[in-house]
Amino acid sequence: MTGRICGTGFCVPKRVVDNEELSRMVETSDEWIRERTGIAKRRIITEETTVSMATEAAKQALADAGISAEQVELILMATISSNVILPCAACEVQKEIGAVNAVCFDINAACCGFLTAYQTAQAYIAAGIYQTILIIGSESLSKLTDWTDRGTCILFGDGAGAAVLNAGEGERFQSILHSDGSRGEALSCSGKHWKSGEEDTGFMKMDGREVFQFAVKRVPEVIREVLEANHCKLEEIDYFIVHQANRRIIESVAKRLGADIGKFPMNLQEYGNTSSASIPILLAELRKNGTIKKGNRILLAGFGAGLSWGAGIAEWTIE
Ligand code: COA
Repeated sequence: MTGRICGTGFCVPKRVVDNEELSRMVETSDEWIRERTGIAKRRIITEETTVSMATEAAKQALADAGISAEQVELILMATISSNVILPCAACEVQKEIGAVNAVCFDINAACCGFLTAYQTAQAYIAAGIYQTILIIGSESLSKLTDWTDRGTCILFGDGAGAAVLNAGEGERFQSILHSDGSRGEALSCSGKHWKSGEEDTGFMKMDGREVFQFAVKRVPEVIREVLEANHCKLEEIDYFIVHQANRRIIESVAKRLGADIGKFPMNLQEYGNTSSASIPILLAELRKNGTIKKGNRILLAGFGAGLSWGAGIAEWTIE
């Protein structure tokens, strides 16, 4: 048995913050941000929360899949910005959508979170434990952002995406994930509750250059690795859905692979980096606008804090 994506959904906050607005808050410019990142705007929560956005994305994904909330056996929620520490966000979503038969837990793997949830769901399906699984990536990174730090605040945004996986016959693709905890300081956040001293604001801290270099090296490597493990050729991939952190990173990945940049859809110009939500938001948008079609083979690739990175393959089987 293998897990097939049979429905997707997404939700972003109403409030749009463009680069002009940011340039009134920190010393930066629309031109600098676009040139270095490709980002033009991002969505920021006002009354929305990580759980409310996840709930909306989950409802859309279930409706798209034609599956009732009661049929869901497992909810995996990838997030680093849950509303509260306890209960977990997956349980809060369960309550909101009425998925009374589901087991629920959160996954903290930052920008690799959705991919980690995808691999975990596939493993449960392959083991015959669950057949119907809801996976969600939802983030309110604006809560963890230092809005006086121009090196980070220009990058991130809020949002949620979800997908329903159903067990079915067919080819099983192996996902591959890696982590290197020794490089964790490159992108870290102690959180306001645990901040270690006066100098620690508790907000996200990042060595932008190190993260950039890590991504452009490791992402092409793991894409090649996952293609080889699944006896799949680069040309057989219709779309590469790469974590939406930075246009230059995605362009460099395509170049290093020798792949057509046209196969790397992007929406980071609209939403910035939404961490675990970026891959499922893009997937849901591409499904909604008819870009992804039945029979397409899609490669998902993520990278981020940990440091962690990985890739997986999905065969698109829905109309
Ligand atoms: N606006 C204007 N200038 C800025 C700026 C901003 N928002 N942020 C930094 N700068 C300045 C720096 O202070 C530096 O000035 P200096 O040369 O006088 O010291 C200069 O721009 C270059 O800084 P640098 O950090 O080398 O820029 P960069 O080209 O590496 O771009 C990032 C910075 C953050 C955009 C880039 O490193 C990046 O995208 N890294 C990956 C981050 C990421 O994706 N993280 C999430 C992964 S999940």
